[in-house]
Amino acid sequence: MKFKERVFSGMQPTGSLHLGNYLGAMLQWIELQKTHECIYCVVDMHAITVWQDPDELKSAIRQVTAAYIASGLDPKRSILFNQSEVAAHAELAWIFNCVARLGWLNRMTQFKEKAGKDRENASVGLYVYPNLMAADILAYRATHVPVGDDQKQHLELSRDIAQKFNNDFKQWIEKAGYVDGNFFPLPEPVITGPATRVMSLRDGTKKMSKSDPSDLSRINLTDDADTIAKKIQKAKTDPEPLPSELKGLDGRPEAENLVGIYAALAGRSKAKVLEEFGGAQFSAFKKALAELCVEKLGPIAAETKRLMADPAEIDRVLASGSERARVIAGPIIAEVKDVVGFVRS
Ligand code: TYM
Repeated sequence: MKFKERVFSGMQPTGSLHLGNYLGAMLQWIELQKTHECIYCVVDMHAITVWQDPDELKSAIRQVTAAYIASGLDPKRSILFNQSEVAAHAELAWIFNCVARLGWLNRMTQFKEKAGKDRENASVGLYVYPNLMAADILAYRATHVPVGDDQKQHLELSRDIAQKFNNDFKQWIEKAGYVDGNFFPLPEPVITGPATRVMSLRDGTKKMSKSDPSDLSRINLTDDADTIAKKIQKAKTDPEPLPSELKGLDGRPEAENLVGIYAALAGRSKAKVLEEFGGAQFSAFKKALAELCVEKLGPIAAETKRLMADPAEIDRVLASGSERARVIAGPIIAEVKDVVGFVRS
């Protein structure tokens, strides 16, 4: 079967979003929205794979939804909703728990990082996290998944799961009318732009992340202008001026990171940014970067705050998104149940 192009992606509502989420994923989401049918999810079920305070979780779900809209996702055009409101995600995830192999999950580097040394004490949900991710995508037969670089391995697993499902149930899939045996598409990662991996402002070898204990390591989408300027001013750099060519960034992770951030925010390539700033000292470059960050992120923070003042409106957006999501996922999960051999009454 020829699959209709459809985009799916999601973010976890654990604390506020940061510049890595925005540049690595959100900018691509906004672009794709212009050309594709897009489904953007707040993955609350993924969030609870590590402990979340229930009151904070509720607030974070609304906060991330508000940040989606404030960043430029249009809830009329794209489907915005929270994962737990569409049962197909959990239903398909269970079936995928029975398709994916232990050996596949054992190779997931993000589980190893997140579980750390105390592996025995990690939740089972954290271990099967990638199966739920595959279910998120395939419940809609999504073909394209815009994400940051850190999700690459999870998306490879989603493709393996889709492939194994198609193979394991081939006979029944064909009986259901899919002559080529392809029930699920193999979803393609979309990892593009100059900032697919935004690094910590304190250490250019570590990813910018919500879980870093130092708030100076990241720019949050809720930071005010002064905070943004302070964090950029304090960002780690090296003593050399900026190079004029890309290869001059080799071995200079902090410089490369700041140039990548500038490029992504300005909608230019890193090479173009170096054409302009090659030879400049970091003091001058950081000043320009701080101004650009404030110009691009300031309005998002203000709009998020405005939207958060009316949580009922955010809940209406989520309710309507969930309803539209169910219309797509419902018939697909019903067919999955048939193919697997469940009796539907
Ligand atoms: P999450 O919530 O950790 O991150 C959301 C998105 O932001 C990207 N990202 C980054 N990109 C560049 N630099 C960084 N430092 C950085 N940090 C985060 C992530 O790659 C991601 O695209 N498992 C996913 C959520 C998810 C999902 C899905 C994604 C659940 N189901 C189905 C796609 C499809 C996650 O934890 O993202």
